[in-house]
Parts: sequence; C-alpha cells; structure tokens
Amino acid sequence: MSIKIVSVVGARPNFMKVAPVIRAIHEHNEKGTSPFIRHLLVHTGQHYDSLMSDQFFADLGLPKPDVHLGAGSGSPAGQTADILSKFEKVLLGESPDVVVVVGDVNSTLACALATAKCSVAPGQPRPLVAHVEAGLRSFDRTMPEEINRIVVDHLADLLFVTERSGLANLRREGISSAKVHFVGNTMIDSLRSFQAAADTSTVLDRLGLRYGSEGNGKHKTARPYVLLTLHRPANVDDRKAFQTILEGISKLGREFPIIFPVHPRTRKRIQEFGFEGDCLGKVGSEGGICLVDPLGYVEFLSLMKNARLVLTDSGGIQEETTSLGVPCVTIRENTERPVTVKHGTNVLAGISVSGIRKAIARQLVRKKRTHIPEKWDGKAARRIVSILARSINKGLGKEGK
Ligand code: UD1
Repeated sequence: MSIKIVSVVGARPNFMKVAPVIRAIHEHNEKGTSPFIRHLLVHTGQHYDSLMSDQFFADLGLPKPDVHLGAGSGSPAGQTADILSKFEKVLLGESPDVVVVVGDVNSTLACALATAKCSVAPGQPRPLVAHVEAGLRSFDRTMPEEINRIVVDHLADLLFVTERSGLANLRREGISSAKVHFVGNTMIDSLRSFQAAADTSTVLDRLGLRYGSEGNGKHKTARPYVLLTLHRPANVDDRKAFQTILEGISKLGREFPIIFPVHPRTRKRIQEFGFEGDCLGKVGSEGGICLVDPLGYVEFLSLMKNARLVLTDSGGIQEETTSLGVPCVTIRENTERPVTVKHGTNVLAGISVSGIRKAIARQLVRKKRTHIPEKWDGKAARRIVSILARSINKGLGKEGK
C-alpha cells in the first residue's frame, strides 16, 4: 500500500518547518515501514527573492519543488486568492491523501482552504488537511497571521501542536481532541540538525564580529553584539511606530554593534521614510545599527547562537532563542508562543521607547539558563510522519470527510 502526501511551502519561515518532515518521510520509507509514502513538495512562490527562498533550499537540503505556483506578492486577499485557485489545480491533478501545511502565512491559509473545499472526484474523499504548528494564539486579530491560524485550525483534520498552550486554545475553541497531537516543534528539529553547520559558518568574520582577523574564524572568540530583526506590518509600515522602535533601540548601539538583516518589506520602508543615515548605517560604521541583506538559514543561526541579545518581532526567533538559551526581547505587545516567556529566554517589550529600553536592560543582566520546552527534542517530524501514516492506514480520511 502507498499513500501520497503533498507538503506546502511559501514564505521564509515555512522552509525550516517542512525540511525535517521531508527527511522523516525518507527515513520512514528507507526503513520499509508501511505504508510507503509518495511525497510532493509545492512552493507557492509567496517569497521569491533568492535570499528569501533559494538560499533556504540550499542550506536546508530541501529538494527542488515538484510544483512551483509562482504566486508572488500582492494584497492579502489577492495573494491568497491566487494561491487558492492555483493550488486547487494541483489537488485535482495529483489527488493526494494528505496536504501538510505549516505555520501561519497566507500560503498556509490558501492551501488549507483549497484542500478543505476540494472534491477530487465524485464519491471520493477529499485530501486531509494536516496543520503543523497548530493552536498558537496571540489573541490579536489585527495580526494577519492570527486570522490564518484560527481559520486553518478549524479546517484541519490533523493538528500538530508545538506547546501546551496550543492544546488549551484548541480545546477552548471546541476542536475535538481526537484530531490534536502534541508532537513538539519541527523548527527546533531543524535548529538541532544545523547547529554544527552554524559553528563552521564564517559570517561572524565577514561582519567583523570576532576579535582578531587572521586564521580560521571558528577558533576565535565572538565580540559581543546584538542581532535585530523587524518586519511586522504593525511595526514597520507605520512611520511613527518604526521611529519609536528605533529610538528605543538606538542607545544600545553605543554599547554594542547591532546587526540588522533587513527583510525586503522593511528595506522598502526605510527608504520610503528616509531613515537611512543617522542610526541606521552599514557594517563597520561607528556605533548604531548595521543594515545587512537577509541572511540564509545557517548564517542566521550562527548569528543568533553567538549573540549577546536578540531583538525581534518574529514568531519563530522567539522559539529559536529559547532553544539556544540566548536572551530575546520581543518588540510586540503579545506573543502566540507563551512557553518562550514562561520557561524560555524571551521577554515582551511592547512598542514604547521605555518598554523596549527596560526589556533590554533586564535581558542584558539575565543569568544564562536554558530550559528546553517539552518535546522540543528534535523528534517532532518523526512523530508527525508516524501519526500521518497511522491515520491514513486507519482510514481516518474516509470517515472524517
Ligand atoms: C510573511 C508572513 C509573515 C512572516 C514573513 C516572514 C503572511 C501574512 N505573512 O510576511 O507571517 O513572518 O513572511 O518573512 O503571510 N517581498 C520581496 N521579496 C520576497 C518576498 C516579499 O521583495 O521574496 C516584499 C514584497 O514587496 C511584498 C512584501 O515583501 O509585498 C511582503 O511580503 P509578503 O509575503 O506579503 O509578507 P511578509 O511581510 O514577508
């Protein structure tokens, strides 16, 4: 017996979540476990720049996508609709048993919706929707991702949860516990697999972040530096909000170099608002925040691992820093990943100047303490694949649809 799984990637944070699932499928097949899994990778094209996509395929050893939808950028509705209708054609042509979607981006929503509404052929069950990273809630519906999370979880037939808060959220929303599986975090599977590769990266030397300059970088000590990422529309699309955040951070730039790999959305805003200059400069400029191009997975991991402090508005980075034991300040009012605050290394700063400065001061004196959240052990993808294989063997698809 064989089954067919389609997994979907679209935007940067999807790639590291899907890579371990694909690896686990290969392992499953190599061991000869039943059923044999045929796998297809679909890239929606939501992120298309080589630094936002191709570099991640190379770093993570992802196979070339079997199908590329070429969707690209657009308004939220336009982008979602484009992916929705293109993905429906893939479903009709391929008739998979399961579609695996990850995270909370527009591609996740569009492909889950296309699958949930798809009738492959009269009398035949539709493919199952499996959601990896289910149950997270920020309780802030102004975030596009929160809408995506809620809708996808309510469409999904199998929900794979990364932390216990997800179980409680799904229970509260009336989702049957029979569909929900607490498996851990596939993004942390990737992090654990690539830590050794990150240790051989030369990115710190390239950015002048090591003492001394001769010889092979990996034997020299890293200088203390801070890593910054910002890309949320609420933080960077509004001039005043963006300026306030920079004001909250800029004082720290007199103490440490602040390395800022810039997302294309943020780059556009910096140019539009005329922020380049003053506190935003190039690597090597005295003090201030150093803008660099978006980095690949392994280089970014190396930068996170060696940082004195990470400042971010990303979701995934809150989890990665917790797993690495690196202090993190999240420049948001809320988080959908409360385990990173309760047990990890994360604090929420809000977006006021004083909130950001206070959180930075607190994190700079924080004692190093690593508490790895439950099941963030590098085995999440294996658990997922074994549940997928079991569920389809049991004919869950046919009953559930
Ligand atoms: C998306 C996700 C967000 C995730 C982020 C990671 C949604 C709703 N948001 O936000 O959850 O944290 O990815 O990066 O899905 N652009 C380029 N090149 C690219 C991709 C984007 O230049 O390869 C520019 C385009 O101008 C585009 C803008 O960035 O309009 C925003 O891209 P989009 O995919 O809509 O959202 P992100 O802000 O990247």
